[in-house]
Amino acid sequence: MKRRGEKIVVVTAYDAPTARIEAEAGVDIILVGDSVGVNVLGYAHEREVTLADMAHHIAAVRRGAPDIYIIGDLPYATYDTSQQAIESSRLLREAGANCVKFEGAQPEIMRALTAAGFDVCAHLGLESQHHDVKRRQGKTAQAAAKLYDDALALDAAGQNFVVLELVPQELAARITQAIGAPTIGIGAGAATDGQVLVVNDLAGITAREFKHNRRYGAVGAALREAVEAYARDVRAGVFPAEAHAFHMADDERSAFER
Ligand code: KIV
Ligand code: NA
Repeated sequence: MKRRGEKIVVVTAYDAPTARIEAEAGVDIILVGDSVGVNVLGYAHEREVTLADMAHHIAAVRRGAPDIYIIGDLPYATYDTSQQAIESSRLLREAGANCVKFEGAQPEIMRALTAAGFDVCAHLGLESQHHDVKRRQGKTAQAAAKLYDDALALDAAGQNFVVLELVPQELAARITQAIGAPTIGIGAGAATDGQVLVVNDLAGITAREFKHNRRYGAVGAALREAVEAYARDVRAGVFPAEAHAFHMADDERSAFER
């Protein structure tokens, strides 16, 4: 797709019904990100997400979308050594991931994983596991040059994809031209080979607004209105209606009431 100039559509999912809807909508790749922690599990930080959490949610997404290509995040501190990265990746693959993603400029980890037969996605720019403040990266010429060199080193180590998060469009464009692997941008401008968004953000479930995001729906508001309407109807005695009730057959009822 990169060679043909076709944009790659990536979106996160954390559960089976959302994955099924996304596959039916025709996305190319589903990312089961460690953003599951903050978006679904109620954790304060991505660092709290465990391998067991990731395997649980990857398996759910796989059940909902049996044929989709799934990238799964390796959680914080599960790829500190090559051996640990390989063992962690095996767990995510057994859960249903086609590809594993890890954050940071670690070409040796990349080389070990690709040599072990894994598809691997790198992740540069904002690294939520390693950066405490979610601010944009690569702003200075020096920081941009470092990110550029990191992307080239990961590419030489065999990466299959690289996510570029919250980096200047100019830098993302240069990296996209310079490397063989497709770049998947989030807050990285329009020049990347593909885009990824968090489904809760694009569907309007997340309360916060982000500069990098566009809200394509109001799913949070729709859910709130549905639950409020249900509560009103129950309290007013108008739900359930006659049509929602089940009845005994006449002979069973007369026997029962005797
Ligand atoms: O966890 C996640 O959803 C991600 C994306 C923001 C790229 O890593
Ligand atoms: Na992530």
